[in-house]
Amino acid sequence: MKITVTTLQKMAQEGHKISMLTCYDASFASLLDDAGVEILLVGDSLGMVVQGKDSTLPVTEDEMAYHIACVARGAKNALILGDMTFGAYQQSPQQAFAHASRLMQAGANMVKLEGGAYMAETTRFLAERGIPVCSHIGLTPQFVNAFGGYRVQGKGDDGRRVLNDAKALAEAGASMVLMECVPAALAREITDSLPVPTIGIGAGADVSGQVLVLHDMLGVYPGKKARFVKNFMAEAGSIQGAVEAYVKAVRGKTFPADEHTF
Ligand code: KIV
Repeated sequence: MKITVTTLQKMAQEGHKISMLTCYDASFASLLDDAGVEILLVGDSLGMVVQGKDSTLPVTEDEMAYHIACVARGAKNALILGDMTFGAYQQSPQQAFAHASRLMQAGANMVKLEGGAYMAETTRFLAERGIPVCSHIGLTPQFVNAFGGYRVQGKGDDGRRVLNDAKALAEAGASMVLMECVPAALAREITDSLPVPTIGIGAGADVSGQVLVLHDMLGVYPGKKARFVKNFMAEAGSIQGAVEAYVKAVRGKTFPADEHTF
């Protein structure tokens, strides 16, 4: 059955963990879909793991639309989440709508955009016009130059800022909030205070669901391995087995473990 925003909302309310993986092509979309992964994220991480670039910033709207269309052709049931690309949505709600509608026409069912409370106006503009939004907060990779690297966000007093971002975005109509690299206690507090599902990557186990970059969990990305990554291929012996083990571990709450958490 096709996964929709309503399915995700119900899963979160009933305590069923949501599994998400990044995906960039039709063959993997079909494999992930068959393994029961609920959300396929066509992430701008494709710039790094597919194109070999050193950040997500160079990915263009045309490239994102192309990969979304590839994934949409391979998936039957999973919800397809498309990343809004750097420079294509930050200027105005109208610019964001033009970009998001192109990604939806390519096959996305929801779009993801990075940024805190200041993106609330844009989030409201999209949501009111029928575009489900996933807000990406905490470590937002498109800010790598501003952050001076990929660092844990929301430590200590800074946690209030991240909590306020999450509340403002949910209030503006975000359908889901994704938190990257934030302390587990903060992610739990945010999850408890929001009416929408939360997805974590390096955010501990007490969120509505988990996401990993496919190439990281298969152990094929040659770059540095982050603390929150688990290589599911190491024990599984096949790609299908690794993806099934990931879905089982997310559903069974055995991933992430303490060693993957901040
Ligand atoms: O682009 C991506 O893969 C992402 C994940 C890190 C969540 O945004």
